[in-house]
Amino acid sequence: MPITTCVFDAYGTLFDVNAAARLLAEEPGQDALAAVWPQLAAHWRAKQLEYTWLRATAGRHTDFWQVTQDGLDWALEAVALRDPELRERLLALYWELPAYPEVPEMLAALKAKGLQTAILSNGSPEMLKGAVDSAGIGALLDASLSVEDVGVFKPHDSVYDLVQRRFDGPRDAVLFVSSNGWDACAAAGYGFNTVWVNRAGAPMDRLYAKPQHLLDDLSRIPELT
Ligand code: LAC
Repeated sequence: MPITTCVFDAYGTLFDVNAAARLLAEEPGQDALAAVWPQLAAHWRAKQLEYTWLRATAGRHTDFWQVTQDGLDWALEAVALRDPELRERLLALYWELPAYPEVPEMLAALKAKGLQTAILSNGSPEMLKGAVDSAGIGALLDASLSVEDVGVFKPHDSVYDLVQRRFDGPRDAVLFVSSNGWDACAAAGYGFNTVWVNRAGAPMDRLYAKPQHLLDDLSRIPELT
């Protein structure tokens, strides 16, 4: 089945989730953060995701902005940096995470080939709008689909159903792209053609399906369509 629609995960795939801690650590006067920012960023991301899975399993949904704050609070305590001003700066930066450098050209190439493009993310509609606007890629996307429309986080099947609700066509006409290995595996299990963008060189997750394609970054996505 030819690919008609390319759907991207947002955080970690189009947008660099480590950038908030890294960019703030580069500012003058941020020596305490500079000493621990990689651990802080890793804890923040791990807890943010863990809380999405726990809330989905428990049936206690809240939006991604809440779990992003909860994950940061756990992470700041773990690295002994409980500074309210630092917390506010990091959260503000999370609203304007930079896109990876290859993103605009890659999306433009997909649009030039006549493909439909979208984001499918745990992010709330407001968070996604903030990130898309600050990266300047809104004109290259046909839709930003948020789990808030179904009230449960990935990898629940009802999240992947949002793509079918927005775009016509069979599941295997969708190329789903994620840097989160578990998201790529789950989307493959759902029936999408799936790409895992393994920037970190991580091992493959042992789940119920495997992505069909592996890439190091997003630049070769148009070749798969
Ligand atoms: C998202 C998370 C999984 O954007 O990164 O959905």
